[in-house]
Amino acid sequence: MRNRIISTCSKFSVTEKEMETYRYMERLYREAVKAMKNAIAPYSGFRVGAALLTTEHTIYTGCNIENPSLMLSECAEKVAILKAVSDGAKDIRAIMIVSNMEGYCYPCGSCRQIIYEFATDAEIFVAGKKGIKKYAIEELLPHAFKK
Ligand code: THU
Repeated sequence: MRNRIISTCSKFSVTEKEMETYRYMERLYREAVKAMKNAIAPYSGFRVGAALLTTEHTIYTGCNIENPSLMLSECAEKVAILKAVSDGAKDIRAIMIVSNMEGYCYPCGSCRQIIYEFATDAEIFVAGKKGIKKYAIEELLPHAFKK
């Protein structure tokens, strides 16, 4: 039973599904932080890392890669998603984005469209110093463009 409560106390309860989510959330966070170390961000100073989990239990990571011709720079989550898609991954279950920014690094507009296309049902985790927030793409990109 997926949502059975497996531990309770007066303050909170955790379901099995939540426990599973916490497990891969933590792993994705660690992988995203590792990936962030490879960021190439001499122009903005914003270092971003991303890690995603496919339904086949594979993790792909990415970092932002800037170019002196700034418009050619790539975002971390886009790199991770395109790595997964080019590797034949069919279904992206969750994606984590971390950065060295003070606040949260939300996916840019262009990445939201990429997420909508290739990670439609994914849980989108955005990590900051105050914790990790979770979103669905419908919240971040309402009325998405689709064919
Ligand atoms: N960046 C990402 O990697 N992901 C986003 O969703 C937002 C922006 C990067 C791109 C650029 O290298 C730097 O952050 C600042 O614009």
